Amino acid sequence: MAESCSLISSSFVTFIIIFQLLCTCTLYTNGCYTSIISFGDSLADTGNLKQLSYHTNQQPLHFFYPPYGETFFHQPTGRCSNGRLVIDFVAESIRLPLVQPFVGVKGRHMIELRRGVNYAVAGATALDSSFLGAKGVHNPMTNSSLQVQLGWFKRSLPALCDNELNCKHFLRRSLILMGEIGGNDYNHALLAGKSLEELETYVPLVIEAIISAVIELIELGAKTLLIPGNLPIGCSPVYLTKYYGSSDVEYDNSTGCITQLNKFSEYHNELLKIELSQMRERYPEVNIIYADYYNAAMQFFRSPNKYGFINGALKACCGGGGPFNYNASIACADLSSNVCMQPHTYANWDGLHLTEAAYKVIYKSVFQGPYAMPQFHSVCPTTIVQEIDGISSST
Ligand SMILES: *[C@@H]1O[C@H](CO)[C@@H](O)[C@H](O)[C@H]1NC(C)=O
Ligand SMILES: *[C@@H]1O[C@H](CO)[C@@H](O)[C@H](O)[C@H]1NC(C)=O
Ligand SMILES: *[C@@H]1O[C@H](CO)[C@@H](O)[C@H](O)[C@H]1NC(C)=O
Repeated sequence: MAESCSLISSSFVTFIIIFQLLCTCTLYTNGCYTSIISFGDSLADTGNLKQLSYHTNQQPLHFFYPPYGETFFHQPTGRCSNGRLVIDFVAESIRLPLVQPFVGVKGRHMIELRRGVNYAVAGATALDSSFLGAKGVHNPMTNSSLQVQLGWFKRSLPALCDNELNCKHFLRRSLILMGEIGGNDYNHALLAGKSLEELETYVPLVIEAIISAVIELIELGAKTLLIPGNLPIGCSPVYLTKYYGSSDVEYDNSTGCITQLNKFSEYHNELLKIELSQMRERYPEVNIIYADYYNAAMQFFRSPNKYGFINGALKACCGGGGPFNYNASIACADLSSNVCMQPHTYANWDGLHLTEAAYKVIYKSVFQGPYAMPQFHSVCPTTIVQEIDGISSST
């Protein structure tokens, strides 16, 4: 199909016509989607923060250095993992190119974003930095909140699709990944010393920010949006280390995770699910999919061995030592940090982020399994979900 298209297009001279042809050519590469559009934070960033740091002369962050990216890309890409993220597995499985970061792409190269564009930025929050800043919660990494990302999207729309009708069509055929986003609103606040009681007051605001972004995308023509909930943050080496030895903390003895923090994630997720079900009533023609990252991940926190995580699910592969191999003052990739030999035997990569192997479990559970509501294959039954063979091992 691509071949015959390029033959036809060679007889046309203007770029515009070629652009439009490209649009038609890629229309049926899989059952349902011609493009992936992504918003979010480090769980989905495929290189935006890295690009932003070049533009703002920001101090390079530790995850721009090896061993980040060692497993699949064999070099750091700006992804906060050793390898691929959920979004990479999604793109591979519906036979779309890996979703490119938006930041740094200019001019005629914008056309390359028509089959997938990623606005997610590591460290990003759902609420605006100014709002959180007023509460004393400062974001050390980025001000590119969800609204900022949505602004980039709206500004790049003319380069992604030519006119209003075309854009509606483009969005109708796009799979929108809205997140995960919101986790950092809580992470930054907790690390700034805020109490869980105070954090609970943020939850409705965070959900509102996510929902209003969803509404804006629907009004522009989006027809399929996947909105992940929060991960069980009580299973993060960051918090297991921060509260280590503290007497106020309760542990779930089936996982070793911190009960209060996981309950907090569940609270966020419950509120999100309630809002999403109201959205389904308001927009019955739109596929609004809740992605249950929490319970997808709990599978390997409950039974790490079953997923090959023979080194447990609570200890980071890469970090600065200590009971969970996490130390806030020695990050993964710092000179005095250590990295495991077999990342696929760990669920946690660097204390906060997961390994490629863990992201693959989440991808499979959500996109091929029951951890989505409604289930992904019921929304797009004709999508050829390609089985991705074994995760590249840590050689
Ligand atoms: C965020 O914005 C504030 C205020 O404009 C600025 O001082 C700060 O440097 C920004 N932070 C980052 C990480 O860009
Ligand atoms: C976990 O806690 C329950 C109830 O508190 C207790 O009955 C059980 O023995 C504990 N299991 C382990 C493995 O400690
Ligand atoms: C983190 O590393 C520093 C420097 O080596 C050390 O002083 C500190 O005790 C470590 N903290 C933990 C929690 O291991």
